Amino acid sequence: TGVVTYDPGFMNTAATKSAITYIDGDQGILRYRGYPIEQLAEHSSFLEVSYLLIYGNLPTATELEEFDQKIRRHTLLHEELKGFFGGFPRDAHPMPVLSSAVSALSTWYQDSLDPFNEEQVELSTIRLLAKVPVIAAYAHKKSIGQALLYPDNSMSIVENFMRLNFGNPAERYEVDPEVVKALDLLLVLHADHEQNCSTSTVRLVGSSNANLFASVSAGINALFGPAHGGANEAVLKMLRQIQAEGMKPEVFMDKVKNKEDGVRLMGFGHRVYKNYDPRAKIIKKTAHEILGKLGGNDELLDIAMRLEEKALADDYFIQRKLYPNVDFYTGLIYKAMGFPEKMFTVLFAIGRLPGWIAQWREMIQDPEMKIGRPRQLYVGEAERNYPV
Ligand code: CMC
Repeated sequence: TGVVTYDPGFMNTAATKSAITYIDGDQGILRYRGYPIEQLAEHSSFLEVSYLLIYGNLPTATELEEFDQKIRRHTLLHEELKGFFGGFPRDAHPMPVLSSAVSALSTWYQDSLDPFNEEQVELSTIRLLAKVPVIAAYAHKKSIGQALLYPDNSMSIVENFMRLNFGNPAERYEVDPEVVKALDLLLVLHADHEQNCSTSTVRLVGSSNANLFASVSAGINALFGPAHGGANEAVLKMLRQIQAEGMKPEVFMDKVKNKEDGVRLMGFGHRVYKNYDPRAKIIKKTAHEILGKLGGNDELLDIAMRLEEKALADDYFIQRKLYPNVDFYTGLIYKAMGFPEKMFTVLFAIGRLPGWIAQWREMIQDPEMKIGRPRQLYVGEAERNYPV
């Protein structure tokens, strides 16, 4: 009760205090637990960053090793859970398959559902970190009619993930260390981003004391939307369409500026960054390098670079402070790695997973935690009588 503030999209409302991620959108600064994203991108790994986000500090070598071993021990899926993948249409998008399977973890792993039992929360944390990449790879394999491989626990999370996506039972899978390094970097860059739509969803669902699997599953569904994680897939579709129609970037930009059919320059703009997204800066720097090595589609990269160049010099974008975001270049890299477009947002989900877990755990331990329950301004009919 009291005065209700009208704030659609929560543009100015802090729903929580958090010690995990710091963003300064005007200056383009992003830090996880105080560490600048540029330093983590250069020196850290996805495994280490996951530990940092979830437990608050960088691990010692022993802590990191133990964390790694625990995750490796939990990569196998319950055999019955594997039958789940056959229940979806072959052409199903892997995001709803992933969110459904993560939701279904609550049915197979009922011994780790209590949000207020520390051991159970720890177990569900490890289970998610270990199993989500496996589920994601199985969703991919099923969609192309290929065999589901068992994880190989002599491999790191990212190596295993590549093998589960691209290996087959008849051959030894040769890990390409360049690809593994590049994918690891992209996962680091996606690992948390404070109270974005999917993370706020994870917190909101968790605020009713729903378990971690249920909350993360809801976050995956929120991430699916093209205004959020789905943008990486949408960027590539946009670039391919421009290429296929032989359209000049200027002509496409005119459509965007005239808001024709609601066309937006996908991969541009951000609610918080009113400057260059620091993640996009790092990705842009490595995009050329990685695509050079992997033999990516140069023409699509050229189109992307020309669109960016035009946008950064255009009044429409300057006035609205629209800069490339994390999704602008990632799709091109994922494609060069061999992932189909439908998998792009799934890769974002794997990256964001430690952030969702860290935020959920912070919320559950917060003494000020309350069930999320926004207010509204009622604009409907005043009381009226039912006609008799
Ligand atoms: N292309 C063209 N115009 C745009 C774009 C764009 N990508 N983004 C925003 N605008 C315009 C918008 O039309 C509006 O103009 P006007 O003031 O004339 O009405 C103004 O800029 C402000 O936009 P908004 O939609 O009110 O801003 P928002 O903070 O609500 O939306 C956003 C942020 C990311 C949803 C939006 O910029 C967008 O739709 N971008 C394209 C999709 C995208 O790349 N999403 C990924 C976001 S980063 C990764 C993630 O978090 O998932």
